[in-house]
Amino acid sequence: MDALFFFALLSAASAFRLSERDEFHFKSWMAQYNRVYSMKEYYERLQIFTDNKRRIDKHNEGNHSYTMGLNQFADMTFAEFQKSFLLSEPQNCSATKGNYFSSNAPYPDSVDWRKKGNYLTPVKNQGSCGSCWTFSTTGCLESVTAIATGKLIPLSEQQLVDCAQDFNNHGCNGGLPSQAFEYILYNKGLMTEDDYPYKAFGSECKYKPELAAAFVKEVVNITAYNEMEMVDAVATRNPVSFAFEVTSDFMHYEQGVYTSTKCHNTTDKVNHAVLAVGYGENNGTPYWIVKNSWGSGWGIDGYFLIERGKNMCGLAACSSFPVV
Ligand SMILES: *[C@@H]1O[C@H](CO)[C@@H](O)[C@H](O)[C@H]1NC(C)=O
Ligand SMILES: *[C@@H]1O[C@H](CO)[C@@H](O)[C@H](O)[C@H]1NC(C)=O
Ligand SMILES: *[C@@H]1O[C@H](CO)[C@@H](O)[C@H](O)[C@H]1NC(C)=O
Ligand SMILES: *[C@@H]1O[C@H](CO)[C@@H](O)[C@H](O)[C@H]1NC(C)=O
Repeated sequence: MDALFFFALLSAASAFRLSERDEFHFKSWMAQYNRVYSMKEYYERLQIFTDNKRRIDKHNEGNHSYTMGLNQFADMTFAEFQKSFLLSEPQNCSATKGNYFSSNAPYPDSVDWRKKGNYLTPVKNQGSCGSCWTFSTTGCLESVTAIATGKLIPLSEQQLVDCAQDFNNHGCNGGLPSQAFEYILYNKGLMTEDDYPYKAFGSECKYKPELAAAFVKEVVNITAYNEMEMVDAVATRNPVSFAFEVTSDFMHYEQGVYTSTKCHNTTDKVNHAVLAVGYGENNGTPYWIVKNSWGSGWGIDGYFLIERGKNMCGLAACSSFPVV
């Protein structure tokens, strides 16, 4: 072998610090997630995967309230992840003015709308489009409608992606559930998932009023940072849409109660919208039970738990739900 070439190989290997074991882990992950790469991409992804895996292993060796795992995002950097799966820009939800009235009713130590009846559709997958806000919106309206009517009907995210721009929403580049509920209210209806299916990219609005299947009478915004109002609403009324700031530790979440010291907690930093479907407490740590939109293979069957009572990552900054 040419000495120079050999040297180049050696230094490349040491720069990457990759072992056969790393490649073995990567190949089993590739098989599990059906990934195929070009030769060049293979080495790039192997490096990113290995960096992620080391970070995950290190986290799991520590004493944390949640574990990380190698999920479908294990071959991506946070910057790539952010571009495809979060709102491209943090949303400023400071215009979400509160109008919630607490029931002041006693509420139980734990609530889980998944177990109360048929109120939640299966976890959906937003794909690589910053449309989380549409899934938070449909998830909430689906459950509020099912609680009111006894009928659970999957609703259209694509209509919100394509048609809700006038309410400060931006399709695959972000939006907010409170603004999407306003759109549905003024538009006088949202179509079903079947009639207006999801495509994961924005296109021309194809709303058909005669096929409107769900309606909003009023939008209720929870007072900014008032997490007790969120508890009250989830305990006495229905699941609640909220937004929070996702940072790099969250994409590898596996199970347990997520908590972070990296994220911000204000209205101008939220970048992901989801649905609180219940709450509880584990060894003295209160948590929310949350439906996400990254498929049922992510987290706990598509759900996650996040620490409750501390406005963790701004989760109480702008939460809302519709009245039907
Ligand atoms: C792990 O963390 C918990 C909660 O922060 C603490 O109570 C416990 O003592 C810690 N255990 C170890 C071994 O550090
Ligand atoms: C958010 O919007 C409010 C007005 O709605 C504005 O006063 C504030 O400066 C904005 N914050 C950021 C960070 O853009
Ligand atoms: C709720 O917040 C949205 C913006 O997020 C706003 O447009 C709407 O006016 C608010 N509703 C009430 C009743 O204040
Ligand atoms: C945000 O976090 C800081 C630091 O922990 C805290 O002092 C502040 O009260 C929090 N603000 C909100 C709105 O939760």
